[in-house]
Amino acid sequence: MGRNSSCRETNALVAALLVAALCLGAAAVARGQLTDDFYDDCCPQVEDIVKARVFAAMKAEARMGASLLRLHFHDCFVNGCDGSILLDGSNSEKLAAPNLNSARGYEVVDAIKADLEKACPGVVSCADVLALAAKYGVLLSGGPDYDVLLGRRDGLVANQSGANSNLPAPSFSIGTIVQMFKDMGLNTTDVVVLSGAHTIGRARCALFSNRLSNFSAASSVDPTLDASLASSLQSLCRGGDGNQTAALDAGSADAFDNHYFQNLLNQKGLLSSDQGLFSGADADANATKALVRAYSADPERFLCDFGRSMVKMGNIRPLTGSVGQIRRNCRAVN
Ligand code: HEM
Ligand SMILES: *[C@@H]1O[C@H](CO)[C@@H](O)[C@H](O)[C@H]1NC(C)=O
Ligand SMILES: *[C@@H]1O[C@H](CO)[C@@H](O)[C@H](O)[C@H]1NC(C)=O
Ligand SMILES: *[C@@H]1O[C@H](CO)[C@@H](O)[C@H](O)[C@H]1NC(C)=O
Ligand SMILES: *[C@@H]1O[C@H](CO)[C@@H](O)[C@H](O)[C@H]1NC(C)=O
Ligand SMILES: *[C@@H]1O[C@H](CO)[C@@H](O)[C@H](O)[C@H]1NC(C)=O
Repeated sequence: MGRNSSCRETNALVAALLVAALCLGAAAVARGQLTDDFYDDCCPQVEDIVKARVFAAMKAEARMGASLLRLHFHDCFVNGCDGSILLDGSNSEKLAAPNLNSARGYEVVDAIKADLEKACPGVVSCADVLALAAKYGVLLSGGPDYDVLLGRRDGLVANQSGANSNLPAPSFSIGTIVQMFKDMGLNTTDVVVLSGAHTIGRARCALFSNRLSNFSAASSVDPTLDASLASSLQSLCRGGDGNQTAALDAGSADAFDNHYFQNLLNQKGLLSSDQGLFSGADADANATKALVRAYSADPERFLCDFGRSMVKMGNIRPLTGSVGQIRRNCRAVN
């Protein structure tokens, strides 16, 4: 009975051809819990397949690790970690403001899924592909090797308005961001630790040029932005091309380290929501400031806590059991 809701029975036809493909992790998933061994018996190669594709993509462009990490975050905050961000269409989450011309890596997800459909057809969900791609994006950038929990199923709908309302903007106060994370079951520590994801990746001028004033008056630059960083960002963004990108962690743009937190001590956070963790003044400021100091001083603690908070984020309202489906193509429901 426990195995009834396994990935094996997702596609009855395929399952009939794959009698050996039992997902033993299914018993726990039937209780609504993800497990670290879900695919051990029905697709033992899953992690190797994802890792190889992420490795190849990052060899072509190191930034892709960051882009894949962000996709998982933006998936989980909208209807839970259900692969909904990957669905195409006019009501897609891809077209919501926080994702439009911003979220990237969809083609890499397609390539991973195509490999998985060859190796274990109808078995691995797109939501789990995102969780694993994020893990390897982090690991191959030099970050922690945490155990990803698996067994998510894919949602049947995209939620564009949800993507517009649930994803934090960099202009939001830390208090607002803390509340948004709280709504997802994540606490202040998770906010600070997961913001450390900005140790890798890029952001477009459009997302931080409000901190640079009108490019003619150095005195009206955000007082919590280091003057020399402000000056170089002004040069970058001056032409008015909001699509120019700057490293979120200028010191080590593609390395998953704690340099992001050291930047904040020196007013070198790129986004207002980054610097606000250290320079903010709302009710949570003392707590976030203390955490920033701790992570800036202790890289091991950051890496360890990051893995723990990623598992927590990956547990936001997963679809399990017989809810949802295993999409064959991540861009459309079956
Ligand atoms: C705390 C609230 C957060 C805010 C306000 C925020 C905002 C942003 C913004 C504005 C960008 C740049 C987008 C663009 O240039 O189009 C960005 C990039 C990024 N974010 Fe966040 N973010 C937050 C939390 C997170 C979390 C929790 C994660 C993952 C755990 C994450 C991972 C990333 C990554 C890796 C990038 C770089 C992506 C790339 O280079 O393609 N962010 N974020
Ligand atoms: C979309 O997301 C919002 C905000 O989380 C939620 O209230 C709403 O029920 C969701 N809609 C659908 C169709 O899932
Ligand atoms: C947040 O949750 C973690 C466990 O998930 C816990 O260890 C930590 O102390 C909590 N932080 C706050 C500020 O409550
Ligand atoms: C830019 O800022 C300076 C100094 O505050 C001001 O004199 C000038 O009018 C501003 N220009 C625009 C286009 O807003
Ligand atoms: C950024 O690029 C997108 C897609 O190419 C384009 O539609 C948009 O107009 C550009 N934005 C700016 C500010 O240049
Ligand atoms: C934050 O810390 C300062 C100085 O240590 C203290 O005066 C203030 O009451 C604290 N604020 C909160 C909200 O705990």
